[in-house]
Amino acid sequence: MCLGNICRSPLAHGIMRHIVEGAGQSAHIEIDSAGTGSWHVGDPPDERAVEIAAQYGVDISDLRARQFRANDIEAFDLVLAMDRNNLETIGALVGESASPELFLDYAGMGKHDVPDPYYGGAQGFRDVYQMIEDGCQNILDQLSSSGNASSTR
Ligand code: 4NP
Repeated sequence: MCLGNICRSPLAHGIMRHIVEGAGQSAHIEIDSAGTGSWHVGDPPDERAVEIAAQYGVDISDLRARQFRANDIEAFDLVLAMDRNNLETIGALVGESASPELFLDYAGMGKHDVPDPYYGGAQGFRDVYQMIEDGCQNILDQLSSSGNASSTR
């Protein structure tokens, strides 16, 4: 989850899809991404995100932005927000009982935001890519060691 669903969350979506495929777990893990805002619904990812992912052999060009829906919290076992603003927005939509979490926090990398790279330059996208890739790897390792990645649903 991020704001526009054209920079950070499609990177996380594409990177996670890539490493889950590499781990042979695609049949067991469903991955999606969305934005809290509606400005970019239907749009492909920002070309700077497509470009940095391509440099790492990850194709995200097929992804299209969609807006987060309150029932996503029930549809998915885990909803991770890229920053605290989006975590708050989701929290307000889904109520007290559900618990979306902060992406880097869930990945064991501290209670930090993945900064919004939209208004910055290429370096911002490189930094964010690295952060998200590390986070995705940690999260898949956690799911695998807890047995969740190999169980059928
Ligand atoms: P994202 O980045 O939340 O990582 O997709 C943004 C994309 C677009 C906008 C803001 C952030 N925007 O204001 O249009």
